[in-house]
Amino acid sequence: MADTVITSAANPEIKAIRALSTKKGRQEQNAFLSEGLRHVVEAARAGWMIRRLVVADQQTSSPVLEEARLACLDAGGRVITVSGELMTRIARRDNAQSVIAVIEQKTSPLASVTAGPGALWVALESVRDPGNLGSVMRSADAFGARGVILIGHTVDPFSVEAVRATMGAIVNVPMIRCDAAAFLAWRASWPGRVVGTHLAGPHRPEGLRASTPTVLLMGNEQAGLPPEIAKACDTLVRIPMRPGADSLNLAAATAIMLHALAGGAGGLE
Ligand SMILES: C[S@@+](CC[C@H](N)C(=O)[O-])C[C@H]1O[C@@H](n2cnc3c(N)ncnc32)[C@H](O)[C@@H]1O
Repeated sequence: MADTVITSAANPEIKAIRALSTKKGRQEQNAFLSEGLRHVVEAARAGWMIRRLVVADQQTSSPVLEEARLACLDAGGRVITVSGELMTRIARRDNAQSVIAVIEQKTSPLASVTAGPGALWVALESVRDPGNLGSVMRSADAFGARGVILIGHTVDPFSVEAVRATMGAIVNVPMIRCDAAAFLAWRASWPGRVVGTHLAGPHRPEGLRASTPTVLLMGNEQAGLPPEIAKACDTLVRIPMRPGADSLNLAAATAIMLHALAGGAGGLE
């Protein structure tokens, strides 16, 4: 099928794509925006469904672009060519990438959180900041975590800011969404350990690395872990800080903890 050329921001298709910058638009369309050819191709290779591929008319053709085009067309999607100016309006920023894709949202059920040797999962309680969530996804990917469990009222993981902050990792890290009650019920039959992080935790991160299946549980940016969830942890860990320091940023603390825990299954270089 030939690519569609669209020149007007008033075109309904462009309006629908621009609406994906809003939470309402993402919910209604069950889709999100991914920017940059490399990230789009990685999404396609990881099995995500590309519904629309928007390509700026100055983008030069390449085998990778052709791979993204075919992935979109094979999934029944459409390839749209637009001017650089229209691309800027879609991305809502200057220096927009010359390839943007509309990708179908995907999350996994709690039942998919399985416990093999060295299995490492991250759970975030009520994470609010899209940059933090994206950075955690990026660290989870880098340290070989199997997925991220989002507990409670969290920021939208498919927001443009969150997706940007993952630097493409969103397509490699399965995401599970549940409320606190479902998490606690699931936790009761989790055969591994749950390592929580808390400013009053009695343990340190050293010595945590093990092949025991582990869920690393991180608290909300303002309130930390609520007591009922902290109680469900086998261990509560505090990362040592200078006396008087308030706390670490959530994403920074997660990266430190993942570094301390990762390696049970090997594979890091
Ligand atoms: C900004 S902190 C929350 C601070 C909050 N005022 C509190 O009292 O917990 C966000 C999350 O990062 C993690 N965190 C931050 N600093 C930490 C530290 N020194 N040790 C362990 N976890 C930490 C915890 O998971 C915490 O819930």
